[in-house]
Amino acid sequence: MKKLISLSLITAGVLSSLMATPKSAQNTQENPTQKTAVKYVDNPEILAKGVKQAKDLIKVIKPTLMATFKKDPTGVEGMIMCSTKAHEMGANYNTSLPKGSHVRRTAIKYRNPANKPDATDLVVMNKMIADGNLSKAVVVDMGENFRVYKALPTHKPCLKCHGDANSMPEKMKEIIHKKYPNDLATGFKEHELRGVIVSEIEK
Ligand code: HEC
Repeated sequence: MKKLISLSLITAGVLSSLMATPKSAQNTQENPTQKTAVKYVDNPEILAKGVKQAKDLIKVIKPTLMATFKKDPTGVEGMIMCSTKAHEMGANYNTSLPKGSHVRRTAIKYRNPANKPDATDLVVMNKMIADGNLSKAVVVDMGENFRVYKALPTHKPCLKCHGDANSMPEKMKEIIHKKYPNDLATGFKEHELRGVIVSEIEK
């Protein structure tokens, strides 16, 4: 169990820092509440590929983060790591992927504006919440590529950095405030959808 939690933590801080925002996400629509048609497809091959991409990223970054949490169980060190080094590691991972493939994270209530969701991201995340589906990844056909969305539920350890802001250590609040002045990613409760990993796969 402990191991599982550490892995979640890792997924957490690290994936956050996935570097370069893909082109598709840069064209963020200013009014994403407008009706956006999302084409869900049943494509087990792409689904498996996308989920693997997401999991492999965790494997790449896990050792560094594990070390951070071991050193400082309060999570403050992890917060520093997530907001600095993990970014670079995520970027390196993305360059190792085949051309046209990319992994990123997003959320409705996001911390880093670089992770801001686009209209499709929002529709998919809202549907996951409405369906209560935090376990099955889904595939969306974007025309020029596929996106595989994997939910990231909020687990207990996530609350250190995404839970009630009032109960965080002062140092943690300071870092968040300084680095993410418009942070939306606190106040989560266990088992809520914290966000998603999006694996983009070229057709
Ligand atoms: C050690 C602190 C820490 C913990 C613990 C943590 N996160 Fe985060 N999380 C961050 C930071 C910092 C960012 C912003 C990273 C960036 O600048 O891209 C972030 C960003 C994210 C994002 C990307 C969207 C956004 O808000 O910018 C998701 C999704 C996310 N976290 C999910 C989780 C989940 C799920 C867990 C638990 C499994 C978790 N986090 C635990 C620090 C943490």
